[in-house]
Amino acid sequence: MLAKTMGKIKNEFRIWRNLIRRRIYVSSRTEKEIIDQFHKLYYGPGNVFSGFPWFNTRWLGAKVLKCPLDLWTYQEIIFETKPDIIIECGTADGGGTLFFASICSLINNGRVISVDYRPRENLPKHDRITYIEGSSVSDEVVHKIRNLINPEDKVMVVLDSDHVKGHVLQELHIYSRLVTVGNYLAVEDTNVNGHPVVPDFGPGPMEAAEEFLSENKDFVADKSREKFYLTFNPDGYLKKIK
Ligand SMILES: C[S@@+](CC[C@H](N)C(=O)[O-])C[C@H]1O[C@@H](n2cnc3c(N)ncnc32)[C@H](O)[C@@H]1O
Repeated sequence: MLAKTMGKIKNEFRIWRNLIRRRIYVSSRTEKEIIDQFHKLYYGPGNVFSGFPWFNTRWLGAKVLKCPLDLWTYQEIIFETKPDIIIECGTADGGGTLFFASICSLINNGRVISVDYRPRENLPKHDRITYIEGSSVSDEVVHKIRNLINPEDKVMVVLDSDHVKGHVLQELHIYSRLVTVGNYLAVEDTNVNGHPVVPDFGPGPMEAAEEFLSENKDFVADKSREKFYLTFNPDGYLKKIK
């Protein structure tokens, strides 16, 4: 009991000490400005040599439409939570799918189910990947996915298909039921609609996640997953807590 209390006090002390150290280097306002400016630079104007960096990012040769810092975050989440099933809505060129499957291979646990209504040709092949063709919100697709999950499986979900608010909200309602307690429901690209990029996008993943969280107390946005400062998924790493 005493050891537990001492541990808690030490942890609180460490948090405050780190915060004070951080503020010695940079104020909170400047910190946000630096992060947002870099985010816009990284996302927006494109590099003269290689174009948009996030649009030209590859995992083992396959195009992956994610920020490398988010890929590292996923690696940490997958290692820590060891999902048996990772469902990805939105395959595109399959780079994200292959990344998840590679991490599953490295830790020798987990399979990936990836859905796209317009599947590309020559998607990456991997014995841990199952591709499904169709809309992520269609009954048929959801039925197929359910049939691939065993009752004891730990399930994680990544929403990265159509980013319009109504669609993401629909996915959130459907897939939140499949995620198991302690695992994550990642809402990708919450950065659009001015958070801080693409200000004219209109209501998107951020607005969908906000509405979902206001009605659903089984999930929280895990801010600790934003420790690398730049993320395309601010407030988007939702953890199922009950
Ligand atoms: C942002 S990309 C996915 C990027 C990919 N997850 C990655 O990490 O590289 C979005 C994909 O979602 C697909 N998509 C859009 N609406 C969809 C829907 N209703 N159901 C399934 N896939 C959809 C598109 O065809 C597109 O390939």
